[in-house]
Amino acid sequence: MLKVVKKLDKGLRGEIIIPADKSVSHRAIMFSSIAKGQCAIRNFSSGADCHSTLNIFKQLGVNIEFVDEKTVHVKSNGVLNSKKIDLPPLDAGNSGTTTRLISGILARQNFDSIIVGDESLSKRPMRRVIEPLTLMGAEISSTEGHLPLKIFGRKLQGISYQSKLASAQVKSCVLLAGLGAEGKTTFTEPYISRNHTELLLDYLGADIKTEANSVTIYPSELSARDITVVGDISSAAFFIVAGLIVEGSDFVIKNVGLNPTRAGIIDVVNRMGGGINVLNQALCSGEEVGDIRVQYNDRLKACVIEGEDIPKLIDELPVIAVLASQAEGDTVVKNAEDLRNKESDRIKCLVSELIKIGVNIEETPDGFIVHGKRGKIKGGAELESYHDHRLAMSFYVAGLISKEDVGINGFEWTKISFPEFEELFGLLVN
Ligand code: S3P
Repeated sequence: MLKVVKKLDKGLRGEIIIPADKSVSHRAIMFSSIAKGQCAIRNFSSGADCHSTLNIFKQLGVNIEFVDEKTVHVKSNGVLNSKKIDLPPLDAGNSGTTTRLISGILARQNFDSIIVGDESLSKRPMRRVIEPLTLMGAEISSTEGHLPLKIFGRKLQGISYQSKLASAQVKSCVLLAGLGAEGKTTFTEPYISRNHTELLLDYLGADIKTEANSVTIYPSELSARDITVVGDISSAAFFIVAGLIVEGSDFVIKNVGLNPTRAGIIDVVNRMGGGINVLNQALCSGEEVGDIRVQYNDRLKACVIEGEDIPKLIDELPVIAVLASQAEGDTVVKNAEDLRNKESDRIKCLVSELIKIGVNIEETPDGFIVHGKRGKIKGGAELESYHDHRLAMSFYVAGLISKEDVGINGFEWTKISFPEFEELFGLLVN
């Protein structure tokens, strides 16, 4: 589907409530499915990725029901596939989080399973989870490190694993395997990645401890507990950037997850001189949450984003490139080579498309450099989303400040994480 975005002639104003966090929604379903008891998950994500996770756990025999659009009831005795049926392939769709996290759960079951996915997911690297799981005693076959993954259920042993990547997906996979392995499991990463798994496992009663960049888990049973999912800061990011760059904007985004291991975009915006105000901070099922006031700012300055910043804003980098186009000076993004392994090669595809609408951006092996200058983007081109939801939404934001219309091919991919995206923008244009 081709979406044509026109320049906004006035600022964004009003108030929106940001929909549920994708990372937390995945984990809420997975962990409730392996916990004993019943619970309600409130404010569950409507994105297709989280529905892939939900459908897989239904296939694994867990009693999961929607009681309204956003509330899911989960009832489990903690045992998956208890009837020991031969499972059809489990379809993770487009979702890397589904695949990598459930691998850690499936590897320690007493049944075999196969994970499949769509074309994009089938190109994404899975050795990053196969390697530590194999060290734990798992037996997994793949097609040269790609889907389909055939997982032969085994008893696993705890390990101490030093990861080269700062990746919450890999960390979560190892911790979920460790939860049912023999002995303790420790995972260490170069920089701390999002810690939703640690917080939610702790909330559900797991024996888990974090020390600097290391997490240790001991075999534990989880007890079901109601979970309310906070709003998704990765979805809020498109509005944060739009508010800062569309002249005359001033609005509030409510219920945004503010987990410090995830909220790197707020630090970066503040470093650029964006002055984000956070209001009404609270805790929600173990996660920090609050409201954000965003205002147009015509004095943004470039900054360097690197090292420990990267895992805290990895998914926001495409829209940060759009923001950087409006910040005076060179914004340099380094140490982000794993962006090439997302739903698309997000370095190559982002740069090739933004250049078409006149953004002065260059590709580097591990990131990109944006030569920013205040003023409207040229626009006037049709961009490819490469089946990547976050690229499609970032290009939409660029279109709001482009002199000529911006076309986006494949705009329907926004449904992967954020089906409400356009409707919410509509609420702020009045
Ligand atoms: C996620 C972790 C990140 C992120 C992805 C969701 C998660 O991936 O890009 O969208 O929920 O754990 P990596 O762990 O591969 O960096």
